[in-house]
Formats: sequence, structure tokens, C-alpha cells
Amino acid sequence: MTDIFDKCYGSEGYFGYFRAKNDMYFTQPVLEGIPGPRMKFQGKKVIMWAINNYTGLAGNEDVKNAVRKSLESWGTFSPMGSRMLTGNTEKHIDLEKKLAQFLQKPAAVLFNYGYLGVIGTISALVGRDDQILMDKLSHASIVDGTILASMGKRFRPFKHNDMDNLEFHLKAANKERKGGLLIVIEGVYGMRGDLADLKSICALKEKYEARLFVDDAHGFGVMGENGRGAGEHFGVQDKIDLYFGTFAKAFAAIGGVTAGEEKPVDYIRYNARTYVFAKSLPMIFVDAINASLDVMIKKPELRQRAWTVAKQLQQGLVDLGYDIGDTQSPITPVYVPAGSAETAMSMMRMLREDYGVFVSAVIYPVVPHGVVLFRMIPTASHSDEDVKDTLSAFKNLRDRLKLDLTQKPSRANK
Ligand SMILES: Cc1ncc(COP(=O)(O)O)c(C=O)c1O
Repeated sequence: MTDIFDKCYGSEGYFGYFRAKNDMYFTQPVLEGIPGPRMKFQGKKVIMWAINNYTGLAGNEDVKNAVRKSLESWGTFSPMGSRMLTGNTEKHIDLEKKLAQFLQKPAAVLFNYGYLGVIGTISALVGRDDQILMDKLSHASIVDGTILASMGKRFRPFKHNDMDNLEFHLKAANKERKGGLLIVIEGVYGMRGDLADLKSICALKEKYEARLFVDDAHGFGVMGENGRGAGEHFGVQDKIDLYFGTFAKAFAAIGGVTAGEEKPVDYIRYNARTYVFAKSLPMIFVDAINASLDVMIKKPELRQRAWTVAKQLQQGLVDLGYDIGDTQSPITPVYVPAGSAETAMSMMRMLREDYGVFVSAVIYPVVPHGVVLFRMIPTASHSDEDVKDTLSAFKNLRDRLKLDLTQKPSRANK
């Protein structure tokens, strides 16, 4: 008879190869120190390129002071209970108003994690007769939210950023339409760093009378003149029906926010199970996000610095012959030649051990089968020297391993 635990002793499941080997190197590496450009791994100093601290707010003194005060007043436990019952406070409501204003939307609702926010928003809104059109390269939270909302019914995945394919699905969805249509996409695709074709998507959603949800986890605080995200970058923020951001990246905190028109946001607040049935966002994070937002508004130079570092790093890698795909954001994917996991592992070991450069590799199920990439995150706190030393490491690596950078790696983007 099969025991449900049998699979746990072999190499089944996600990253099973690494789990079976008790790996703490490629998966679950233990890092030492405060998240930032200089950390330690296995006792050795490394330049860190694997943390989404885009604006360098991790460790920011203003934010730390705000959190110290918050901790003094509220402890780690306040408030207790769900927002629906005993966990609501003026501070939560004020932060939602402030975020709505920043995002140029009438209303906003907070979630405890980005993941919970995406799942909660999509599944609250999409009912039995509605249909979801989802970009195929969407983050797991969008996929999970879509599957949950569709409840076993078919949803419509469209080819990544392919407007013809989206239109094909919109037409087909309209033919069998009994309810509403929701297009779900990312603003900045978290692994490839490319941007959604937001202008065209907004035009299509108007043409076919659909609504648009944009998970801008990687654009929030990074893209646009004021850091309002991909919508601001393209000048279509007013056309996005539901804008979503997480605080786990550029804000260096935790939590998520959905912003939009008042009535839909209220509907989500009352119907998102990940909001209704979860304890309220702790006050220390409400205060941290508040302080991070203030810094972000006051110091646009942080965002500008992140872009400067990104451009230096990206240009340097391209000059060395590496393939960084079609990124249009600070996210810097370095595609591993021939998509080889073995090459990726040797490269990572050498980078970490011989050159003191820490990168993470991304493989399936985070990206499609056959794609292997290093996902590098330039941040406002990296120095010019960090970039220089890193580029020199990549040059040495290329020469030492005699990497054939002319081999086109798989991008499997459709
Ligand atoms: C596109 C996208 N959406 C949602 C999430 C989940 O956000 P959080 O880490 O705040 O739960 C992530 C995190 O990696 C993400 O990249």
C-alpha cells in the first residue's frame, strides 16, 4: 500500500533533485548579515545580486526609527484579529488612503503578503460565469489565483505579451460570454524583466469590454517618474482597473496592496478570503510601509541610482557577450548558455567561491522547462565598484570556462 509520505523519501516534487541531496547551496542557501550588497555566504564575503532590494530601503535609518517607535507602542502582536472583526485601526485605513493617493486611484486595500493579495483579489472578484485571460508567464500567485477562481473551469492562458493571441482569446471569450472578463498580467515580468505591452493591452481591454488586473510587484517603486509603477511608465495608470503592488521588494517590508475604484476595492475587501480570514497586517509593518513610502517620495534619487547601477551592469554583461534577453527594467537575467543546469551550477560555484559574487539561478517551475538563468538584481545600494568587480568576475568566468556565448539559450517565452 502506498504511504502518502513515500514521495518524501525520493526525488519527486519541485526541486526534488536538490532536496534529496540535502542541498543548502543552490536551494535554501543560508546567508549571513543584513540584506544588502555586501553579505556573507559560508563565512565568505560576497557581493549580493539576488535580493529584490531595488531602492536600497533595506536597513534605511528613517524606516528603522519608525519601526522602533512602532514596536515600543504596539509590540509585534498588534492589532489582533482580522480587519473584519478586531484588527482594523485608523493607521491601516490611513495607510490605504495614502497608498491610493500615491497610486492615483480612489481606493486601496492592504494584504499581509503579496501572494495573498493576488490570490485574494482575483478569487474574490471572479465568479462562476466570469472568465480569466492570463499571460502564460505570470507569477505563481496569479496562476494560483486564477486556478482557484476558475474552480476547475477552463481559463484562457495567452502567449506571453502576444497581442494577437490575447485578442484571439478575447474574441473567443466574448462569443461564449455569460459574465465578465478579467485580464491578469504582470507589469514587469519578474524573471525576464520585460514589460507588459500595457498600452496595447489597455486598448484591447476597452475594445472587448474586459477589466485589467496588473500585478506590478517588480514595477512598484521602481518604474515611472514617481515610482508609481509600470502604469505610470506607460502613461496608462488611469486605464488599469486594479493595480497591485507588493511591499516585499522596493519597499523592503512585507504586505501587498490592491488599488482601484472604490466599489470594486470594497467588494474585494469583503470577499477576499485571504483578507477576511487572516489576521490583520501587524502595526510594525503598517508603520514600516508608511515610512518607506515617505522616503521613496522624498528621495527619487534612490530609484534613479537603481537604474544607473542596472544600466552599468546590463551594458557590461552585454559587452562581455552574455545574453540578458529583452529586459526593460533593473531585473537582469543572464541566460545560461544552452540552458544547461550543469553549466549553471559550475558557474554559480565559481562565482561564489572564487570571485565572491553571489547570484541565484532560476529553473523550472519558476521559469518554463528548459530555461536556466541567473536573475541579478541591481539596487540603489550597489556601488560602482561592486559592478566593476562583478563584471570582472563574469569576464574571468567566461574565459576560464571557455563559455560559448554564441549558443542561443532557450527563452521558452510563448
Ligand atoms: C509578480 C509577483 N507577484 C506576487 C509576488 C508575491 O509577493 P510577496 O513576496 O509579497 O508575497 C511575487 C513575489 O515574488 C511576484 O514576483
